[in-house]
Amino acid sequence: MTAQIIDGKAFAAALRARVGGVATAFETASGRKAGLAVVLVGEDPASAVYVRSKGKATLAANMASFEHKLPADTAQADLIALVDRLNADPAVDGILVQLPLPAHLDEQAVLLRINPNKDVDGFHPVNAGRLATGLPGFVPCTPLGCLMLLQDQLGDLSGKEAVVIGRSNIVGKPMAALLTAASCTVTLAHSRTRDLAAHVSRADIVVAAVGRAGFVKGEWLKPGATVIDVGINRVEGGLVGDVEFDSAACVAGAITPVPGGVGPMTIACLLRNTLVAAHRNAG
Ligand code: GUN
Repeated sequence: MTAQIIDGKAFAAALRARVGGVATAFETASGRKAGLAVVLVGEDPASAVYVRSKGKATLAANMASFEHKLPADTAQADLIALVDRLNADPAVDGILVQLPLPAHLDEQAVLLRINPNKDVDGFHPVNAGRLATGLPGFVPCTPLGCLMLLQDQLGDLSGKEAVVIGRSNIVGKPMAALLTAASCTVTLAHSRTRDLAAHVSRADIVVAAVGRAGFVKGEWLKPGATVIDVGINRVEGGLVGDVEFDSAACVAGAITPVPGGVGPMTIACLLRNTLVAAHRNAG
């Protein structure tokens, strides 16, 4: 193995500590804590784990955490009514509705209802549009965390060839927009891309977000490339990423591990976005 292992866990811990310091200053200056409301509908065990860790991290960063757990059979109108109450609540700076929602609920309608200025997930079309046009707004937490790791690793990203694999609204599309804004030359690859290996072989930066264990092979990579693995796939024997780690680590210059790479950055960026929301709402 030759690649440097990018320690997302340590980077995220440092970011959470910085955010906690600013959150304490915010409380002293404003007389209230920055507040994050998290809504969980149903009993999905993975979602419940995420929501619990978000709540714990929020409190540890000296912010207020408001958890709303609703039954799996919650009606659309009741969920929308909760979002309306959170939109109107001055103690709530950020609102996160944990996805996926149970199948009978209209996810898009719920996300559209969140006040874009409290949309710390950055999933509202207004924030997606702001990102696409270079206006200030909220950027989805996972791609924001990936960008921070890349800038920490590589410094200026200008002129670099980047391949993003996966075109989801949550990771792939905003990641491509962020890298474009950072002056990379970006290829957004997906399940219909022909000869993915040829695209990847030209990339200085590879971001894998396809949700398939070990999908990206080390032999596809350009020697020295920086590899960001967003995948979290449960397989026999634990969690693995979308990149075949052992073969990739022989070719890449640097690579994020799974777990301990991108995952911890998502929550740290959520806290950061919530604090930014609090300052904007107070200002
Ligand atoms: N489900 C998986 N990741 C996320 C996320 O970042 N935000 C929300 N709201 N739901 C998720």
